[in-house]
Amino acid sequence: MLVEHIGELVTNDPARDGALGIVRDAAVAIDGERIAWVGARGAVPEGVDGPRVDARGGAALPGFVDSHTHLVFAGDRTAEFDARMRGERYEAGGIRTTVAATRAASDNELRANARRLRDEALRTGTTHIEIKSGYGLDVDDEARLLSLAGELTDDVTFLGGHVVAPEYAGKPDEYVDLVGGEMLDACAPLARWADVFCERGAFDEDQSRAILTAAKERGLGLRIHANQLEPGPGARLAAELGAASADHLTHLGPGDAESLAQAGVVATLVPVADLSTRSPWPDARALLDAGATVALATDCNPGTSFTTNMPVVVALAVTAMRMTPAEAVWSATAGSARALQRFDVGTLQQGARADLVILDAPSHVHLAYRPGVPLVRTVISAGAVVHG
Ligand code: NIG
Ligand code: FE
Repeated sequence: MLVEHIGELVTNDPARDGALGIVRDAAVAIDGERIAWVGARGAVPEGVDGPRVDARGGAALPGFVDSHTHLVFAGDRTAEFDARMRGERYEAGGIRTTVAATRAASDNELRANARRLRDEALRTGTTHIEIKSGYGLDVDDEARLLSLAGELTDDVTFLGGHVVAPEYAGKPDEYVDLVGGEMLDACAPLARWADVFCERGAFDEDQSRAILTAAKERGLGLRIHANQLEPGPGARLAAELGAASADHLTHLGPGDAESLAQAGVVATLVPVADLSTRSPWPDARALLDAGATVALATDCNPGTSFTTNMPVVVALAVTAMRMTPAEAVWSATAGSARALQRFDVGTLQQGARADLVILDAPSHVHLAYRPGVPLVRTVISAGAVVHG
């Protein structure tokens, strides 16, 4: 397949010009599921045949990588959102509402719900996604959610440490032993990552460390929900344990940005969660100035961030969080791929997975300039046109 007439191609190839490795008047050749060639229109190698996709002068970029989602759940939290917008505070306890509904749902209901959200994400250009468990909170249900997540992605995250399960109310340390013991035994083979919600109302520093250390010993990579509701130990712990990513970071403490940068922990910002809980914006500039790698993700979940829309995330990162359009587009593609320690996605270079988004706009800047406008015209996933 040849994608031609691309007015502006974002490659994220460090060997090319600028932060985004932009090529103008470009074409991309795809062989099967992989990128075969990227370059200027006049230089397409001979022998490229097969179907043509006409970008009509629009911008093209790597498909978005959404490195933080909670897609497998059942139930509805419209009323909680409505109450919050009428002045109530967000607390971690709302998670238990979704746990009850999720446990009661059949595999097929959960599968249909997750697929619908996955397809919704695809239509706005997300071609790679991470999916967490965390609404099961017992051995069988956590394993069930991970298996369902595994039907949709190979970046599956065990989040048994989301909140203390209702059966363990008042006995958090027993629940921590379960998560790091029997639950991990059942779940580690089904996941690539482990995550913990390290926050007041969820798990404290020692409890989070215990769960993550057990997961690391089982060969899982680590991620942390850190510093979402107040400054706390999450970012520091991510640096101490060598996590791949610390997520949220709405409330950084002194030295947190530097610790993340020094430890090579990707700082993943999820601005729709801040928007939907009326929280302050994370300090993206402090993280970038400290030299941290910043990723952007949706945090799609029914409580705090019920969106699958990465272009909206990019728009908020630019307009509200003071990232430049180039920084935000990089963070939503290559940066988010780094948060998952993936090098086959988030970039358009020879050999990368052929995941590509074509915009109905001349430049990547329009993603921020035209917030909420459906600019994603065509989506190509692993070499196949899946939308547009
Ligand atoms: O990332 N912070 C913890 N977990 C989710 C919220 C989950 C929920 O409220 O259901 C988040 O914001
Ligand atoms: Fe989350």
